[in-house]
Amino acid sequence: MMLQCKFAPLRTALVAIATFGFASAANSAGGEAIHYDRHNWTYGGVKGQFDPIQLRRGFQVYQEVCAACHGLERVRFRNLVEPGGPQFDEEAVKTLAAEWPNQIVDGPNDEGEMFERPAKLSDILKGPYRNAKEARAAQGGAYPPDLSLMTRARNIHTDAPWYIHVPLMMRDIITGYQEGGSDYVYSLLIGYEDEPADFELSEGMNYNKYFAGHQIAMAQPIPEEGAVEYQENAGAKMSMKQNAEDVTAFLAWAADPSLNSRKQLGWSVLIYLLITTLLLYFAKKRIWKRIKH
Ligand code: HEC
Repeated sequence: MMLQCKFAPLRTALVAIATFGFASAANSAGGEAIHYDRHNWTYGGVKGQFDPIQLRRGFQVYQEVCAACHGLERVRFRNLVEPGGPQFDEEAVKTLAAEWPNQIVDGPNDEGEMFERPAKLSDILKGPYRNAKEARAAQGGAYPPDLSLMTRARNIHTDAPWYIHVPLMMRDIITGYQEGGSDYVYSLLIGYEDEPADFELSEGMNYNKYFAGHQIAMAQPIPEEGAVEYQENAGAKMSMKQNAEDVTAFLAWAADPSLNSRKQLGWSVLIYLLITTLLLYFAKKRIWKRIKH
């Protein structure tokens, strides 16, 4: 009886691990497990920071390619100027906003009508469609989602056997790994290829080895030939993979614009707490020095 009580917590833990393991084994048996590579992001880990130069290149790719179909409606033009982001020049962003092809619906005016006007610094980066129905009608029934939170909305799943999941989780906690969404979006952008001979691709769909089910309505947005060309001082050479990496970093910033300051502040707080702990420890020693215990 004693023995049983003693091991009860251990038994509960084992049952929990086994259940979790079987559940994930069943999961991967249902849908085929896809292997995603982990990329080395400048903003990865506990100390990483966004690289403003990369974010500027990424914005260029978004503007020249993705903006044709996807909005970025949780980002405002003024965010592109702020620290921690691409840090464009304010005057340049004012011009960019004024020339953004998708104008802002405003109003009503004195006649009670809604009207469209050019964007200002305080406006959102509007997508090309007025609503989801219009988007679907233009995209053959598929909906191009807003990309503002995309790197937070997606993640990668491991294809490792179930008994490795717990150690992997521990590793991710210790290394501060939070870039699953970025790894997914990057993989998706570079994952287009010809479908295998035994694969039945539906009409109008494209084969992508990283998309669940492998059929995606979005055609390869950045082709090998015809990647976005960067300016000479942009800090990187054009290539499909470089474009994909840069636009992914830009989308990661869009989804988490305060990452830079948060990670910096985190370290200051840890150092502060460490110093406070030491001070309290020595103060306690001193106060209790003459008292026997
Ligand atoms: C010609 C239109 C078009 C362009 C250009 C385009 N997309 Fe898409 N995108 C779509 C459509 C349509 C979907 C929905 C696909 C589906 O559900 O099958 C989509 C879906 C996505 C998804 C979601 C995938 C998922 O897991 O659900 C991401 C991420 C994405 N696009 C990123 C991008 C990025 C980044 C770019 C620019 C490099 C881009 N797209 C350019 C049309 C486009």
